[in-house]
Amino acid sequence: MLKTGIVGYGSLGHMHADNAAKNPDIDLVCVCDIRESQFAVKARKNGFDIGGARTYTDCGDMLEKENLDLLMVIAPTYLHEKFTVMGLEAGANVFCEKPMSLTSGACRNMTDAAKRTGKNLMTGQCIRFWTEYEYLQTLMENGTYGRMTSLIMRRISRYPTWADWFMDSELSGGAATDLHIHDVDWARWLLGEPVWFGASGAYGKTGGIDEANLVLQYEHASASIRASWNSYAPFDMSYEAYFENATVLYREGASPSLRIILPDRTEIVPQIEKRDAYEKELEYFVSVIKGERKNTKCDPASALEGIELLEKEIEMIKGNLK
Ligand SMILES: NC(=O)c1ccc[n+]([C@@H]2O[C@H](COP(=O)([O-])OP(=O)(O)OC[C@H]3O[C@@H](n4cnc5c(N)ncnc54)[C@H](O)[C@@H]3O)[C@@H](O)[C@H]2O)c1
Repeated sequence: MLKTGIVGYGSLGHMHADNAAKNPDIDLVCVCDIRESQFAVKARKNGFDIGGARTYTDCGDMLEKENLDLLMVIAPTYLHEKFTVMGLEAGANVFCEKPMSLTSGACRNMTDAAKRTGKNLMTGQCIRFWTEYEYLQTLMENGTYGRMTSLIMRRISRYPTWADWFMDSELSGGAATDLHIHDVDWARWLLGEPVWFGASGAYGKTGGIDEANLVLQYEHASASIRASWNSYAPFDMSYEAYFENATVLYREGASPSLRIILPDRTEIVPQIEKRDAYEKELEYFVSVIKGERKNTKCDPASALEGIELLEKEIEMIKGNLK
């Protein structure tokens, strides 16, 4: 079993603890959070409480005392680089939440540390493991409905208010980094380097770019990706994929959430086995650490490429704004 610790035992840290606790290959021996009060909060899903796990308020202290096989970095984004490099250098494999970090330079320090130490690093790009996005990937790769000519992706929500640091773009990157990275990463990973891209957006309450629209031009297709925290409407996580012989529509929370419309207007509701993407990404990384497979689905180099594209997009948006 992998001796595992979590640093950042907040909202998502609790969810990951739940998943880690039920993974047969993981022994969650310790958690670290700067706020001791977090140790008393039970995880939402399965009510995991830290039980016998040791608690720390300093990550360096935890890494020094525990000889971890796996460190899960679920801390605020501005700490991802620091804790990832510390974990790798202490001899642990590292799972780090998305966004990998706030700048491509910081991400490069992380991938360099993984290379230097020979340890595995994976970013939690959960959309790469999200059932409906995997389904779309399969339709594209198999050419089931012909060529995909355009893809529209949306991720629009209210401002995250459960932790103060999200509201400071210097710490969270604003919606353009925190929220948008999900879809930018996925599109970049799946469709590759675009031949051209353009972007528009606006500053928001975080002081950074909280509305972003990215258009990616490929030789035979285009992708249009929108993210915003400036909304009072219910959370919109959706895609529209236009194939030569079908239109595929997905909207999280809708019923049905996934629909395929054929040229004769027939509608198909695909029956796919839905599994939790966060459980799947952790299982995948564990199998990589155990040497059962190469990391072809979420390797750190490709996560870095997503951040590089995002960085150029933000630069372009800021360049056009007063
Ligand atoms: N994959 C997803 O769908 C998804 C969803 C939400 C958040 N996230 C990402 O997960 C990360 C954490 O987000 P969250 O919502 O759990 O935030 P959060 O603020 O709820 O939790 C972060 C925790 O880290 C702790 N912390 C802060 N500084 C620390 C330090 N120096 N040492 C130890 N602990 C420290 C805080 O006390 C807090 O409990 C962020 O990078 C966020 O972008 C990913």
